[in-house]
Amino acid sequence: METSIQQLQQEIDGYEIRNPKELEAFKLEFTVRKGKIAGLFSQLKTVDPADRPRMGQLLNSLKLSAEARVADAEARFAEDTAGAAPALDLSLPGRRSFLGSEHPVQKVLGDMKRIFTAMGFGIATGPELELDEYNFDRLNFPPNHPARDMQDTFFITRGQPEGDVLLRTHTSPVQVRVMLDQKPPIRVICPGKVYRNEAISARSYCVFHQLEGLYIDKNVSFADLKATIYSFARQMFGSDVKLRFRPSFFPFTEPSAEVDVTCYLCGGKGCRVCKKSGWLEIMGCGMVHPNVMKHCGIDPEEWTGYAFGMGVDRTALLRYKIDDIRLFFENDVRMLSQFMA
Ligand code: DAH
Repeated sequence: METSIQQLQQEIDGYEIRNPKELEAFKLEFTVRKGKIAGLFSQLKTVDPADRPRMGQLLNSLKLSAEARVADAEARFAEDTAGAAPALDLSLPGRRSFLGSEHPVQKVLGDMKRIFTAMGFGIATGPELELDEYNFDRLNFPPNHPARDMQDTFFITRGQPEGDVLLRTHTSPVQVRVMLDQKPPIRVICPGKVYRNEAISARSYCVFHQLEGLYIDKNVSFADLKATIYSFARQMFGSDVKLRFRPSFFPFTEPSAEVDVTCYLCGGKGCRVCKKSGWLEIMGCGMVHPNVMKHCGIDPEEWTGYAFGMGVDRTALLRYKIDDIRLFFENDVRMLSQFMA
């Protein structure tokens, strides 16, 4: 018996356990219920009772040493897998990455830009911090003329040598910059933010967006303006939209008009949004005033042109059925995340 134990001890000590498979084989050979160690234990009863306690002890330490080898190998393999790669729990839900969303005003502006660029308009931009000279003077607003009061202005500095500095009240000063900068023919749109010192409410805010248009060439007529606006309105608001040109006044155009489209919410029947009139005002427009051309170095005898300016935010409000313009400027993610593509 003693020699069998010694032999088995040697076998166990010499056994190589390099991987989980070999560990499994080791257990099968030695430590399982029908393994070699258990086999020796079952022979214990045949041993001389005088020797039995000693044999029992020897067998026990044999068993313990085999178990120690198993524990050691198991610990080793667990470490290996931990080092190689973290255990991957495929049942866990994936980690979402949050995408930004396009702002509703930018969506509408994007549509407007696409329509006009497809018609051959380039895109021009100008500063939001503007000189009075560009925002008013060169656009034919006479000094101290009441027309300046049509647009409540945020002045930044007054009485500087370069003139008053203000936040532009409309995108029309970009027209001036383009005319000073380029020779006709000119065909541009000027999208951007504008600022007005108005009481803030659900319908008006101190900042909003406009899109300006300017076309200067030989023999440009009001008919060209109408055709362009018609084409734009059909693409923007639907092919059966009707237009209405109402005479109006702007210092920088003559003649001037305001343009209404049939209310695209009620189809012209009259609803709360169009105040039962069936019409929604979308822009101001007209033929560029000869004085404006002169102020910008373009000869009005040689060239003629039209201009238009429209609001962007109201179209976005109506399109997305939002009833408070302030939501456009508060950057509330609960609102913005509803415009995921
Ligand atoms: N600048 C005007 C406004 O903000 C809108 C406008 C009207 C622009 C007529 C134009 C125009 O270019 O021709 O109210």
